[in-house]
Amino acid sequence: MAGTSRPEVSSDDRGSPVLGVIGCGSMGAALAELFAARGFPLYLAGGRRRTAQTLAARLPCAVAASPEAVASAAQVLVLATPVHVSRTEIAPGIGHRLGGKVLLDVSNPATADLHGTGYHSAAELIADAFPKSSVVKGLNCVSARQIRAFIHGGPPFTVPVTGDEPEAKRCVARILDRSGFDVADAGPLSNSRWIEGLTELLRRIGQEEGLGDAVGFRLLRLGREHTHSEPRGHPLPGSTSASRKENWK
Ligand SMILES: NC(=O)c1ccc[n+]([C@@H]2O[C@H](COP(=O)([O-])OP(=O)(O)OC[C@H]3O[C@@H](n4cnc5c(N)ncnc54)[C@H](OP(=O)(O)O)[C@@H]3O)[C@@H](O)[C@H]2O)c1
Repeated sequence: MAGTSRPEVSSDDRGSPVLGVIGCGSMGAALAELFAARGFPLYLAGGRRRTAQTLAARLPCAVAASPEAVASAAQVLVLATPVHVSRTEIAPGIGHRLGGKVLLDVSNPATADLHGTGYHSAAELIADAFPKSSVVKGLNCVSARQIRAFIHGGPPFTVPVTGDEPEAKRCVARILDRSGFDVADAGPLSNSRWIEGLTELLRRIGQEEGLGDAVGFRLLRLGREHTHSEPRGHPLPGSTSASRKENWK
């Protein structure tokens, strides 16, 4: 494999999909560390600064390769590059190799990214740029610093995910669940504007409360029996699905 610095990786005996991370800056590196810590086989690609090679050298089960090689080898691709780079550099280079593959978009758009595009979210722009892939949005509202803290025992966050293809969304949900996050289905990809807006809300709360990016989102499911990832507690009186609907006007 071109540009590979170690032997190829493959699905492990637990059937973990091979993950590819494109972009090994703050976010891509933190995610690669998390996925490696959870035992996922990994392919990594970066830009010109050889960040992927440096990262792969210190992670188990990780191989640095060109974006083209990562696109071919990985079953699920995590796109951790700025939106304009994804659209103008990465999509033209590897988009055609991603037929039928799941692409997890973790981006938060700058205002200029959406200006004049007719789209309301980076996720829809990415889906437009990668028409052969099944795009799922998620992890954008967790910062690289929080992910690193999480690897070292920090609290888990809720990660809302959107996507138009149920199997792709389930695939991402399984990866995030195994990584330790609480996953919330936020509906179709067109709902991505709301989870991208959640990042901005958290940023403003962090600013107002003097906490910087040390704020995170956790969903309370008050009407549901607790599961392993939910806090213990009892449903609120009268919190049937019908009454919940009425209250969310
Ligand atoms: N940082 C966060 O806490 C955070 C949280 C949530 C979401 N996000 C999202 O994650 C994405 C990345 O953000 P970031 O903070 O990690 O940015 P960053 O630190 O600037 O990293 C971007 C990376 O993209 C790589 N890159 C540039 N051109 C490339 C190409 N053509 N092919 C492959 N890789 C290329 C660069 O590689 P080289 O260094 O090798 O040039 C760089 O390492 C953004 O969409 C952002 O909105 C970030």
